[in-house]
Amino acid sequence: MYSTMMKTIFTLFITSNMLLQQTTLACFLASKFHIYVINNLPPYTPPLRVHCQSRNDDLGYHDLVDRGQNFTWSFCESFAVNTLYFCHLWWDNKEKSFDAFKSNFHIFRLDTYLWYATKDGIYSNADYSQKVVKKYDWDIIH
Ligand SMILES: *[C@@H]1O[C@H](CO)[C@@H](O)[C@H](O)[C@H]1NC(C)=O
Repeated sequence: MYSTMMKTIFTLFITSNMLLQQTTLACFLASKFHIYVINNLPPYTPPLRVHCQSRNDDLGYHDLVDRGQNFTWSFCESFAVNTLYFCHLWWDNKEKSFDAFKSNFHIFRLDTYLWYATKDGIYSNADYSQKVVKKYDWDIIH
């Protein structure tokens, strides 16, 4: 009797943990989005410094040393919430600030947004074409 009860409790514990894991992997009544900031700069040049944040979520400073290296994060957004993540990039004597995700990006119908720092500017698939196109020139730091 006692061992049957323990088995039941144990099974319930395992099952609820699995459910919990599934709901944290997915998003509860929301969509999941992935953002990548990718170093696509020439090799043997200064590292790309990345600082991304939202109103209440500062993702910190990250140096992407190698070409192909990326900084990535994911988040859930329910339709009622107005999400905005913006990034500031620095490279050599150049910098650029831009919105890496905002709710009106939904018109692009993507769940993964790619931002490439290249020698001549910032490229992204955050576009009607869903192709990677040039979005911004670098600003020169004087
Ligand atoms: C980001 O970096 C990881 C680890 O190096 C790599 O596996 C992945 O393909 C990269 N993703 C993009 C979109 O560049």
